[in-house]
Amino acid sequence: MQIDTSLSNFYRLTKPLILLLGLLPLLILMLGAFNITDHGLGANPIEKLLHELGRWALKFLLLTLAITPLRRWTGWNWLIRYRRMLGLFAFFYAVIHFLTYAVLDQGLDIAAIAEDIVKRPYITLGMTGLSLLIPLALTSTRGMVRRLGRNWRKLHRLVYVVAIAGVWHFYWQVKLDTLEPLFYGLILAVLLLSRWRPRR
Ligand code: HEM
Repeated sequence: MQIDTSLSNFYRLTKPLILLLGLLPLLILMLGAFNITDHGLGANPIEKLLHELGRWALKFLLLTLAITPLRRWTGWNWLIRYRRMLGLFAFFYAVIHFLTYAVLDQGLDIAAIAEDIVKRPYITLGMTGLSLLIPLALTSTRGMVRRLGRNWRKLHRLVYVVAIAGVWHFYWQVKLDTLEPLFYGLILAVLLLSRWRPRR
């Protein structure tokens, strides 16, 4: 009983903290965009925004995927309480990454955006990842988890496809320096393999 109450207090205190930490990258970018920090966003602010937001979407995706293996390795079951928030941050950063591309980079030129989605494979992949994240975000509430039952787990396996699409999308658009997307790919591979259990 005592432990239950202190755990609840712990969640109550840490959840707003994690919410603030998750919004921090956006805040720092906004301060840069309005030239409040020393460096601003550099010579190409739209590209910088696009790249940073895409990276954060990927980082939050990988963090979300890391919760289950981390729980298994450490026995820290309480980590599960933060998984939904991390997943929603991945979605949030992917949406604003897309909006930066659609509004700031393409000036909301729907024809040009549609052409990019069809003709540029890395954009097709990014769009696939974002589209698959939508049903996951919409069904992330407790009510939906209850209503969907076993199907919820099946549906949420799509997050692996999203993460693969995200890393591949990153890898495809870099011209020379493939080291960073490969590093994200390696982390993803470790996370995916850690979930795999041979059938007996
Ligand atoms: C799950 C969804 C997505 C993830 C995780 C993601 C992630 C990323 C990452 C990590 C980068 C590279 C950042 C860097 O170089 O530092 C990137 C770049 C980019 N992404 Fe995405 N992205 C997603 C969806 C989208 C969508 C839907 C679009 C547009 C329809 C898009 C358009 C772009 C563009 C235009 C770039 C920059 C390409 C360049 O500068 O050459 N992304 N994205």
